Amino acid sequence: MKTKIIKINSNNPQQSTIAKCTTVLKNGGIVAFPTETVYGLGADGLNPKAIKKIFKVKNRPSDNPLIFHIANKQDIEILAKHIPEITQKLIKKFWPGPLTLILKKSKTIPQIATGKQDTVALRMPSNKIALSLIKSLGHPIVAPSANLFGKPSPTMAKHVFDDLNGKIDIIIDGGQTRIGIESTVLDLTSKIPTILRPGGISLSELKKILKNVEYHPILLGKKSRIAPKSPGMKYKHYSPNAKVILVKGSTKNSQQKIESLIQKLLLENKSIRLINYKSIQKNPLIISKFIGYEKDLIAKNIYKIFREFDKENADIIIVREINNSNLGFAIMNRLQKAASEII
Ligand code: TXA
Ligand code: MG
Repeated sequence: MKTKIIKINSNNPQQSTIAKCTTVLKNGGIVAFPTETVYGLGADGLNPKAIKKIFKVKNRPSDNPLIFHIANKQDIEILAKHIPEITQKLIKKFWPGPLTLILKKSKTIPQIATGKQDTVALRMPSNKIALSLIKSLGHPIVAPSANLFGKPSPTMAKHVFDDLNGKIDIIIDGGQTRIGIESTVLDLTSKIPTILRPGGISLSELKKILKNVEYHPILLGKKSRIAPKSPGMKYKHYSPNAKVILVKGSTKNSQQKIESLIQKLLLENKSIRLINYKSIQKNPLIISKFIGYEKDLIAKNIYKIFREFDKENADIIIVREINNSNLGFAIMNRLQKAASEII
């Protein structure tokens, strides 16, 4: 199969392109498309054969359920049941946008999309290309991130191409995604609404709407007797080929740690890269890339930089911890998962 990349206007998606991609989806094919978070690997959410292909193409374990992307808020009534009252408020405030809600699933949901779960993940993306594709298909689109299993999520069409060339029909190129890390996954089936994956919407934003909301204990590094509710939680994730070393500590302390780490790795002849977002002193002997001061820029570019360093055949990527508040919590979650070593 030859994978085509089709450029599209992200503000005003050409309907002829959307129509072409819709035909592929209607015929059970797979289309990668941009959302505001990361690129998704889309199939017709009501076609079990097409959904099966997604797991195969990504090498994704079959017990890891998929998100249903919708274009009409009312569709949750069809796809979910026992919907708690608070859902409407959340949807009103955060949809379309990077919030995925876990609800009890209705009979409409094909078994293969949700593994053994009796729940379903629903999200209404805000990206215009995504919305117009879903509307044009007239069914929800199931879409995991469009990377190979375990790799960083793609934030540009070329990242999808690098991972999945020859395995999927079409990649819609809508440019770099705005947010750069995945949506927040919020479980509304537990007594207290629980964040299973931190993402584009922060805990403090959710607290403005929800009286009670908490992180799943696993996200706080606690050993939990509660099994991971989201199968995605138990897998290593988001890792580039290079080994990521996450450095913790105060500015001064981490600077020292980084310096001695670099000295040691240079002796081992390693190809080292440093992700720089703050006042880390540059070491002239290694290549560093500046990622931006603001958290939204760090989120937007982190996976991209991982992939760029992989293209340069880096052995080691060094990155310093960032402040854990708001979007910082989600970025740290990704860095911790990507890291083979935390020092
Ligand atoms: O931003 C995003 O959410 C992107 C874009 C494409 O929408 N999608 C994405 O999908 O990141 P994926 O499949 O890579 O991650 C979905 C996460 C996984 O951790 C999965 O375990 C969890 O959501 N999930 C899906 N359905 C679930 C369910 N019924 N119960 C608990 N967790 C669920
Ligand atoms: Mg993913």
